[in-house]
Amino acid sequence: MIKRLIDWLKQPLGLIAVGIALLAVFSFAAYGISLTQQPPEQPVQFPHQTHVAFGIQCLYCHPGAAKGPAAGIPSQAKCWACHNQIAKTETSLLLAPLKQAVLSGQPLEWVPVAQVPDFVQFNHRAHVAAGQNCENCHGDMSKVTIAENPQVFNMGFCLDCHKQVAGDDHEKLVKLVDCGTCHY
Ligand code: HEC
Ligand code: HEC
Ligand code: HEC
Ligand code: HEC
Ligand code: HEC
Repeated sequence: MIKRLIDWLKQPLGLIAVGIALLAVFSFAAYGISLTQQPPEQPVQFPHQTHVAFGIQCLYCHPGAAKGPAAGIPSQAKCWACHNQIAKTETSLLLAPLKQAVLSGQPLEWVPVAQVPDFVQFNHRAHVAAGQNCENCHGDMSKVTIAENPQVFNMGFCLDCHKQVAGDDHEKLVKLVDCGTCHY
């Protein structure tokens, strides 16, 4: 049986069939990646990796993550507090849009990438307070230029971790997988 299959696969038609199957798999994978991992067009090509490498904490720019539901994106005033003291800001083409926004008072319009739909309740504070790292959900931002969402925040993503966190604690499990915990 297997021998016959292999013989068939060796024929031209068999090879074409294998080729088409492989192409389909790869193009679906590429499509999936393009849907989830394409960084959007942003007003400034903000390099996370440069800032994180300088030792600037995630929570310095996204303090909301420790305090409430949304992490927040820093205001241009916060960017400017550093950048008006950095020589490179005068000449950098990458920083020209920031400078212009500050001079004109026109806020930068960042495009969100990490999002759940409105009918899902997510709160950063509960997760950060429980000791979850940013990286667990957002991937390693110290290697990223423009933020892209490495995770698809679907229901399975949330539930997998919730089940793991609850472990043998039945009461906790019931609470963390209860529909009303995330949808209300
Ligand atoms: C100097 C300020 C700064 C620091 C430090 C910083 N970020 Fe950001 N972050 C930004 C800005 C500006 C954006 C919006 C641009 C973008 O999406 O790339 C952003 C976007 C993001 C996003 C995508 C949000 C969205 O949906 O638009 C995530 C997730 C994120 N940051 C996580 C982190 C993590 C985790 C760290 C620490 C490892 C970190 N950031 C450090 C400024 C900063
Ligand atoms: C705590 C200080 C600090 C804050 C806050 C900060 N930056 Fe920076 N940023 C830096 C430093 C330091 C560099 C590296 C400068 C160098 O290479 O000489 C840099 C580099 C950059 C670059 C790359 C410039 C180039 O030509 O390579 C961009 C773009 C940039 N920052 C945008 C922003 C934006 C937008 C914000 C606000 C969301 C921001 N920065 C907030 C310190 C900061
Ligand atoms: C348990 C998973 C999880 C952890 C841990 C986590 N995040 Fe998030 N983050 C999310 C989800 C889910 C969203 C989308 C929230 C929404 O659409 O309301 C998000 C959205 C964001 C955003 C963009 C929208 C906003 O303002 O909330 C930023 C910026 C961000 N996170 C930064 C961080 C930082 C910094 C940390 C660490 C201090 C962190 N996150 C920890 C899951 C997480
Ligand atoms: C990497 C692990 C992890 C992921 C992923 C995760 N969570 Fe959680 N979540 C936790 C932990 C830990 C707690 C706190 C459990 C406890 O009470 O000790 C928690 C608690 C919660 C709570 C209860 C908060 C409260 O106020 O008590 C909600 C709501 C919640 N998560 C929603 C979500 C949603 C929505 C997602 C997906 C977008 C998600 N979580 C993804 C680990 C995770
Ligand atoms: C830990 C958080 C969490 C819990 C608990 C949870 N959900 Fe969800 N749910 C989500 C997230 C996140 C999405 C968004 C999915 C997406 O964007 O793909 C979602 C989406 C949905 C949707 C929309 C269809 C879909 O799959 O996208 C339905 C319906 C739904 N949930 C029903 C339920 C029911 C019923 C329960 C209880 C058995 C439940 N959820 C428990 C987080 C949760």
